[in-house]
Amino acid sequence: QSDYFFVGGNWKCNGTKDSISKLVSDLNSAKLEADVDVVVSPPFVYIDQVKNSLTDRIEISAQNSWVGKGGAFTGEISVEQLKDIGCKWVILGHSERRHVIGEDDQFIGKKAAYALTQNLKVIACIGEKLDERETGKTFDVCFQQMKAFAGRLLLLIDVSSLVDYIVTNMVVNWDDVVIAYEPVWAIGTGKVATPQQAQEVHVAVRDWIKKNVSAEVASKTRIIYGGSVNGSNCAELAKEEDIDGFLVGGASLKGPEFATIVNAV
Ligand code: G3H
Repeated sequence: QSDYFFVGGNWKCNGTKDSISKLVSDLNSAKLEADVDVVVSPPFVYIDQVKNSLTDRIEISAQNSWVGKGGAFTGEISVEQLKDIGCKWVILGHSERRHVIGEDDQFIGKKAAYALTQNLKVIACIGEKLDERETGKTFDVCFQQMKAFAGRLLLLIDVSSLVDYIVTNMVVNWDDVVIAYEPVWAIGTGKVATPQQAQEVHVAVRDWIKKNVSAEVASKTRIIYGGSVNGSNCAELAKEEDIDGFLVGGASLKGPEFATIVNAV
């Protein structure tokens, strides 16, 4: 675990060999503050290109992974393959996987548990939709999503046997998890959460971790914010005590702006 600010760039389904080569070159020449963990997440097909050209200062994440060991799963990419090509992280539970592709809490929780057992670190995404916020369900939704992650990690739910509990605790390292709070209504909309809105949820999530996992994990786990973060709004957001970094979409496709966000603290 690190006390460092954590900034991830999620490139989503964007880019070509040429545009990615330019982005990598901008990132390689950017001045990044030393005390920030920086990760970028290219589309699968460009990971190898990025790995071979990007400075080691920046780690690489995948945007998804298969739920278990590889095999006859057409179109999927396994955790083992991601590690083989140099990925250190995977983003799981992103709202686009939940709400566009249809992945549910249980499936996502299972993916996270599997990735962690294989020592692939996880950026675990949670966040409410607009109607859920408007009907006062923000905390319930986020806690439910946290429960699905933590439940698989610590068997908080369905503790079937002490042996399972001990085995799971031996393999799972909370140091390898970063929580990304991404309100769905703020993603790709240009409608960023106010620093107070984000802070309020981050505090609630930290408190949830304290009650359901441990005070130590709660105080150490980085909770980062995502949703229309850019070079102009990052500094205000970064001032909030419980915002430990960002997961950036659109603005991470521009090297200089992404560097500004990395250096926001
Ligand atoms: O993973 C990143 C988030 O979905 C945020 O995307 O910065 O384009 O709103 P955005």
